[in-house]
Amino acid sequence: MGLSITTPVVNYYEHATYLTVNHGHTALFGTYGILAIGLLLFSMRTLVRESGWDVRLLKVAFWGTNAGLASMFLLTLLPVGILQVLDNINNGFWHARSDAFWNREIIQFLGQVRLIPDTLIIIGAGAMVLFMLKAMMNLKPVTVQSGEAFS
Ligand code: HEM
Repeated sequence: MGLSITTPVVNYYEHATYLTVNHGHTALFGTYGILAIGLLLFSMRTLVRESGWDVRLLKVAFWGTNAGLASMFLLTLLPVGILQVLDNINNGFWHARSDAFWNREIIQFLGQVRLIPDTLIIIGAGAMVLFMLKAMMNLKPVTVQSGEAFS
């Protein structure tokens, strides 16, 4: 997405439309959010007892966040962004940001569709929180004392 909105001729029409929003959401959460979850799990893996490592919850977290992000990209932000750019080209920048655009039936509909990805992401994030709570209550005992050499 970042690359596709970079060229001056595209950027001239897409700047400050949902295509930027689309890129911002997918790049920030897709790169740093998912990476942060990965690093968190990598760090937790050796600290938590097997009984506290609930793979079932992790699967829900994985599919919820990833399917939610993908459907947010495909079902809502991308189509609204494309329609907004077309409106920008045909009627001007001011029109593509006015009520005349946002009140169009298709745009209102795509706004409602947003419920699907949002719900998926909330389910995924909720599962991740539950997983962490369970993991934190099942930490391995500390074997190295303060000041003792770690081997
Ligand atoms: C992890 C990587 C990236 C992240 C987290 C990221 C994040 C963002 C965010 C949050 C914005 C919105 C800024 C705002 O309007 O206030 C933005 C805008 C933009 N990004 Fe990225 N980006 C990434 C990579 C890239 C790459 C690789 C490209 C191009 C190859 C790119 C091209 C752009 C462009 C052209 C805009 C401005 C769009 C506009 O005209 O409003 N980004 N980026």
